[in-house]
Amino acid sequence: MTTGSLKVHVKKKKLSTSSKKWLERQLNDPFVHKAKAEGYRSRAAFKLKEIQAKFKLIHKGMTVVDLGAAPGGWSQIVSDILKNTGHIYAIDLLPMDPIPHVTFFEGDFNNIQDKIEGKVDVILSDMAASSCGIKSVDHVRLIGMLEDVFEFAKTSLKPGGSMVAKVLRGGTESKLLAELKKAFKKVSHFKPASSRAESSEIFVVAQGFRLEA
Ligand SMILES: C[S@@+](CC[C@H](N)C(=O)[O-])C[C@H]1O[C@@H](n2cnc3c(N)ncnc32)[C@H](O)[C@@H]1O
Repeated sequence: MTTGSLKVHVKKKKLSTSSKKWLERQLNDPFVHKAKAEGYRSRAAFKLKEIQAKFKLIHKGMTVVDLGAAPGGWSQIVSDILKNTGHIYAIDLLPMDPIPHVTFFEGDFNNIQDKIEGKVDVILSDMAASSCGIKSVDHVRLIGMLEDVFEFAKTSLKPGGSMVAKVLRGGTESKLLAELKKAFKKVSHFKPASSRAESSEIFVVAQGFRLEA
């Protein structure tokens, strides 16, 4: 590895080309360094920080659900905002090291419904199904995931509540978008500056839930 200029190049012979690329991207990514410096577990934390700065969805005393939470950057941001008030429920297929005041469940997000008490103010989903490499298939899988998150929102959100979920560039598929617009007062798409430009992810932000279950 050399650090001659600002950009770091990885020269380890044993690594595959894709591993070298990944490592170079990590080493040259200012948000990776910023996350480490500020004590966040993932660079993803900054995406939620930007979403919160723009939409101001989370407030002290709220109940927030973080779907696909590991390693925990988003839960850390929520915990910073709630400052020991309210409740944070987090779930992931992968294990996650504990975060104070975050109730974590290991498992599929479809099983969270029976684990939380009462209705919630905000549902966050940074989940992505593991990529199979075929863009159209990945897209369909992510839409399927969004449909499931929306179903969960319909039964679990308080009136006025919000939902944030990862979608792919091009936005939310039109039929689903129409349904979201019926269920929420305002639906926006947002690409945080901390989301890599080459990544096709953007976030759908739905505010003001108006269906009562
Ligand atoms: C991009 S990461 C989340 C990063 C996290 N927001 C943070 O700030 O650290 C996406 C996560 O979604 C999880 N995931 C994918 N499918 C899931 C499912 N069906 N149920 C629960 N978690 C899932 C993955 O295990 C992965 O940890």
